[in-house]
Amino acid sequence: MTTTTQSEQDRVIIFDTTLRDGEQCPGATMTFEEKLNVARMLDDMGVDVIEAGYPFASDGDFEAVHEIAKRSKNSVICGLSRAAHKDIDRCAEAIKPAERGRIHTFLSTSPVHMKYKLQMEAAQVYEMVISSVTRARNHTDDVEWSAEDATRTEFDFLCRCIEAAIKAGATTINLPDTVGYAVPEEYRELFRKVRETVPNSDKARFSVHCHNDLGMAVANSMAGVAGGARQIECTINGIGERAGNAALEEVVMAMRVRQDRLPYWNRIETTMLTHASKTVSAATSFPVQYNKAIVGRNAFAHESGIHQDGMIKNAQTYEIMTPETVGVKGTSLVMGKHSGRAGLIHKMEELGYKLSRNQIEDVFVRFKALADRKKDVYDEDIEALVDEQLLHGQDQIKLMSLTVIAGTHGPQRATMKLDVDGQIRIEEAEGNGPVDAVFNCIKALVPHDAKLELYQVHAVTEGTDAQAEVSVRLSHEGRSMTARAADPDTLVASAKAYLGALNKIVAKRQRSVREDAPAVAVAG
Ligand code: KIV
Ligand code: ZN
Repeated sequence: MTTTTQSEQDRVIIFDTTLRDGEQCPGATMTFEEKLNVARMLDDMGVDVIEAGYPFASDGDFEAVHEIAKRSKNSVICGLSRAAHKDIDRCAEAIKPAERGRIHTFLSTSPVHMKYKLQMEAAQVYEMVISSVTRARNHTDDVEWSAEDATRTEFDFLCRCIEAAIKAGATTINLPDTVGYAVPEEYRELFRKVRETVPNSDKARFSVHCHNDLGMAVANSMAGVAGGARQIECTINGIGERAGNAALEEVVMAMRVRQDRLPYWNRIETTMLTHASKTVSAATSFPVQYNKAIVGRNAFAHESGIHQDGMIKNAQTYEIMTPETVGVKGTSLVMGKHSGRAGLIHKMEELGYKLSRNQIEDVFVRFKALADRKKDVYDEDIEALVDEQLLHGQDQIKLMSLTVIAGTHGPQRATMKLDVDGQIRIEEAEGNGPVDAVFNCIKALVPHDAKLELYQVHAVTEGTDAQAEVSVRLSHEGRSMTARAADPDTLVASAKAYLGALNKIVAKRQRSVREDAPAVAVAG
């Protein structure tokens, strides 16, 4: 957020890589529509650069970047590319429709990466830096070059590569802490020394890109900015490879709350942070941990008597920012069966959701059904309903009905009716327990070879009438797809979550022209 006293020099570019580094982490794969939805939200929120994907990876990735480039109104749209010319050319094609497009090309520079991953000598890497940046620069004026594994790179070689990249036309230089190895002081010094040593360093903007393997991604990002970097690469909810990337909401709020120590500014509309978190959580099916900074469910909850007493006297006793600043509304209105459409819309807005008219109708119908079964409908219940609509609104395989016979006298049996692309299918199956019976039913109805990697259940609220929220992760052809579903009946939630993951695999297959083997036998 801009303040009048701050200069352009102190401005930090927010580069969001939720759709690239975030989407790269196991299970976080998003469908085409989900990617467009997330990109729209990032564009609205004031993200300066959206890294929309890695176009060379697949036709699906290409199409997503291309479509986002067409639709985005404010943000620079960036595509990632390796150093190979065919990668760069494909990336350039993908970002072409953008009003402002960027090619982000990268190459490893650390000894361990050069020797084992690239199997190249330093001199070859150096030449490739020049040729890749030159190639990218022929397509666009906005070129970012990253020295992958920069924090484990020999300093002199790093400086030579950076100098060459800038000379070849790179306008942003990113020094990623690829493996989350750096500590803050060291990372700050890296930027300070590089900027001091590289003769043409003033011709480029420097960027931080931190992974969270030691839990220091945000601290390192801020340290890099203190060392002179003016771009932060981050993701919503901190999703990303392994332990994740620096969380966008955390770096943004750190700068906002600690202006005295972090006198930098950015253009993010912070009241959209909660909405952004929920959108990404719904799209990826990755739950946000309850105590997650800024956007976790407990981030503004005060449970102990001592804290509540302090809060009643003055909120500043235990809150360093108001919930409203990040888009959380203060009071929590409990909904019930007498609540109407207007009340539900108001509640959804309070919770940070903006839905289309059709989506609202669907949520309203399911809200009424839930309110009939459950006396009080809490915020968490509404969130589960909305997430469900965002996640499964487009599904091709839909659960019509499910009956399960369970108890002490096995085997357990499930009977299921599915709508598979408009065709009704019914099947019965046995299993070693009711969940197994339900999943066997799905396998019989929609034959597939995806493997179940994760099955997790938790209660959305307290009480025996609480909704169960189930996460299911399936792996198929080396990719993992996670889906989440909620229902007062745990077995129904389990079936829906499994079908959600299966739907993602089907959607992926349909978009991915390159995949020649059938992903899931949905027909016949
Ligand atoms: O972590 C990393 O090094 C990356 C690069 C591709 C920028 O994600
Ligand atoms: Zn990364």
